[in-house]
Amino acid sequence: MTRLAQQHGAVNLSQGFPDFPAPDVIKNAACDAIRADINQYAVTWGARPLREAIAAQFTRRYGVPVDADAQVTVCCGATETMMAVLLATVDPGDEVVVFEPFYENYGPDAIVSGATPRFVRLHAPDWRFDPDELAKAFSNRTRAIIINTPNNPTGKVFTREELEVIARLCRQWDVMAITDEIYEHIVYDGARHVPLCTLDGMAERTVTINGLSKTFSVTGWRIGWAIAPPALSGAIRKMHDFLTVGAPAPLQEAGAVALALDDGYYHSLAADYARRRDVLLGILERHGFTTFRPAGAYYIMTDVSRFGFPDDVAFSRHLVADIGVAAVPGSSFYRDPAAGRTNVRFCFAKRDETMAEADRRLARLAM
Ligand SMILES: Cc1ncc(COP(=O)(O)O)c(C=O)c1O
Repeated sequence: MTRLAQQHGAVNLSQGFPDFPAPDVIKNAACDAIRADINQYAVTWGARPLREAIAAQFTRRYGVPVDADAQVTVCCGATETMMAVLLATVDPGDEVVVFEPFYENYGPDAIVSGATPRFVRLHAPDWRFDPDELAKAFSNRTRAIIINTPNNPTGKVFTREELEVIARLCRQWDVMAITDEIYEHIVYDGARHVPLCTLDGMAERTVTINGLSKTFSVTGWRIGWAIAPPALSGAIRKMHDFLTVGAPAPLQEAGAVALALDDGYYHSLAADYARRRDVLLGILERHGFTTFRPAGAYYIMTDVSRFGFPDDVAFSRHLVADIGVAAVPGSSFYRDPAAGRTNVRFCFAKRDETMAEADRRLARLAM
């Protein structure tokens, strides 16, 4: 969709990246690191200052002890981290439970690692799962479950009670949990992010994935990481070594500086995105979209049935080519495209001017 947006000169509300600048303090830290000649390979599993900052921050925030040497592996974004973790832990024939709609990479990630994904539906409008349906997805073949909270594309923030249900099944079936917490700090309306590894008996069976991309508006830097039980770290580090050798060295140094920012940074990040969310919700609702109000992350899932198009792809093509606004067809988040055929996702990590221009263009949309 980003490619089509460029081709048609459309306002790009599709892919999840900000069109506003990253904070100066971390850009300066990256420039300083390059000038200080931190330009060669870092330690494969991550530069020590960044690993220590990751461990210290997690322990301070959630009270779970993390050993930077035994548990933290830095990779090229959460994307490579997820791939490395699955390749390291899942064998051909295993099953991996994935909630759908899902962030596009999880299905292919499971398949590349030789596993079969088992999809469990999150049901609109509040994107809750049916505990019985989830229980039925677990068996002796289940090796892992992937949980993304706060969630892309739905904006759902899993509650502690929902996570307890998942944790109980993981313990019962001896299953590993892999959580993608890349939107950890982007939550609204008093919602609280709960890392699964903070629940009873889960630290030893959870790999927590996160990264700099969303929290610090640097999606192009490609810095992500896993916090894993020590017994799994060796295999994850080997896979990471074979895949990419290491993440960008100077940007890891800047990452350590970023993670040392005080809580004020995170509070204003969430408040700023809450405001952007409300702006885009207003625009979409004014132009006839049915919206699902997100409690976290920076996307709005919509229902577009009332526009009368055959499906989400036809609608999105019309939107990008004729109206000049790019969004993501909902079917790309489902194994069976029919399940997302009335949905379209919009990203609001955008400047006010960008959203105002989208507003002007969407006025041409006929209801
Ligand atoms: C849920 C989720 N995980 C991971 C990523 C990618 O993260 P990274 O840039 O660290 O690879 C995204 C980007 O949109 C995402 O939405």
